[in-house]
Amino acid sequence: MDEKLLTALIDRQPARTSLDQVFYTDNDIYQRDIEKIYLKCWLYAGHLSEIPNVGDWFLFNLAGESVIIVRSGPDSVSALLNVCRHRGSVICSENSGSSKKLVCRYHGWSYDLDGALHSAAHMPDGFDKSGISLGKVHTAMLEGMIFINFAERPASFEPVREDLAVCLRPYRIDKAKVAHRQTYAIRANWKLSVENYTECYHCAPAHPEYTRGHALAKPGARASDEMQAVMSRAVACGLSERAVSRIYLDEPGFGTGYAFERYPMWRGHVTGSEDGQPVAPLMGEIRDYDGGATDFQVGPATYALAYCDYVVIYRFTPVSLAESECDITWLVNGDAQVGRDYDLDRLTWLWDVTTQADKRIIENNAAGVRSRFYRPGPYSIMEEYTWKFMTWYLQTIRP
Ligand SMILES: [Fe+2]
Repeated sequence: MDEKLLTALIDRQPARTSLDQVFYTDNDIYQRDIEKIYLKCWLYAGHLSEIPNVGDWFLFNLAGESVIIVRSGPDSVSALLNVCRHRGSVICSENSGSSKKLVCRYHGWSYDLDGALHSAAHMPDGFDKSGISLGKVHTAMLEGMIFINFAERPASFEPVREDLAVCLRPYRIDKAKVAHRQTYAIRANWKLSVENYTECYHCAPAHPEYTRGHALAKPGARASDEMQAVMSRAVACGLSERAVSRIYLDEPGFGTGYAFERYPMWRGHVTGSEDGQPVAPLMGEIRDYDGGATDFQVGPATYALAYCDYVVIYRFTPVSLAESECDITWLVNGDAQVGRDYDLDRLTWLWDVTTQADKRIIENNAAGVRSRFYRPGPYSIMEEYTWKFMTWYLQTIRP
């Protein structure tokens, strides 16, 4: 798409109104989204407990790209582009595995766990393998959570760690383990998936299971009396009182910034579960349930919810112009044992049922947005955050 045309489209977008159809259906804009957002921002890749031993790896696929996240040493993680330096074949084709070397099945080129070419058979005399290695993607660690960034010179992750580590510490996510991880395929442009996550206007009509426990389904929840009660109990329960809101600061390359905010649950609910009662042992250093839940986010694609007994991490990625994925990780205390300390169905019930509903409503949204009769419509007061996201988005893709 001509840059002048894109600028004109952005300029004519009215405030607090859903986006013009073209932003969801144009392939040039989609390619721009990938380049300006997904290849520039920090993205959650997975948790250290998924690769406990040297040689363990898993793949992170998005928008046709594939990255091997590998435990390259006792204290190191590498993120390597899954593209052989010989003739370009994908090296790892399973979702996860464990190996001493990464071996391309096509012509047998093998790589060390840090990406350096280890061996290549029948190459001509003078072939120098020392300068050949798999492409590297930057990594950063936040309390056991592995983040990656495709940019050559990404924005520093240090501010995130400095600000969020203190708030996250009581949960000891670094010592947690993945109880379950599931990917939900959504037939919708990635923005429709993220837009849906950033507002709770739809919670009351679409999520009865969530709404009966979480006050965020009502406007003004963070300024309510219930909120005061939760905050007054937080420290006694071992939680941090601190809130962080460093979002939409227009920091180049950092996407939407990061945040950590608590909000209350309704009386009788201490966690996100079918009956509001605990579904796993208390996490980390938390001593009791304070009646609250925490939202935290890092960048435009990673959103998480921390309860006193478990943490769910959401990641939204594009697959193609009209397809996206929602990847959910459920974390529990590292020493909790399935069957003894938690039941997987009870643990995952709320966010599975809620995500199935989200998939349905997002796909319905996508189908309507594709209609020739779709016109942008006005946002409610509960979609202020979505508009902030869209404002950031339009600024980010502006030529
Ligand atoms: Fe939802």
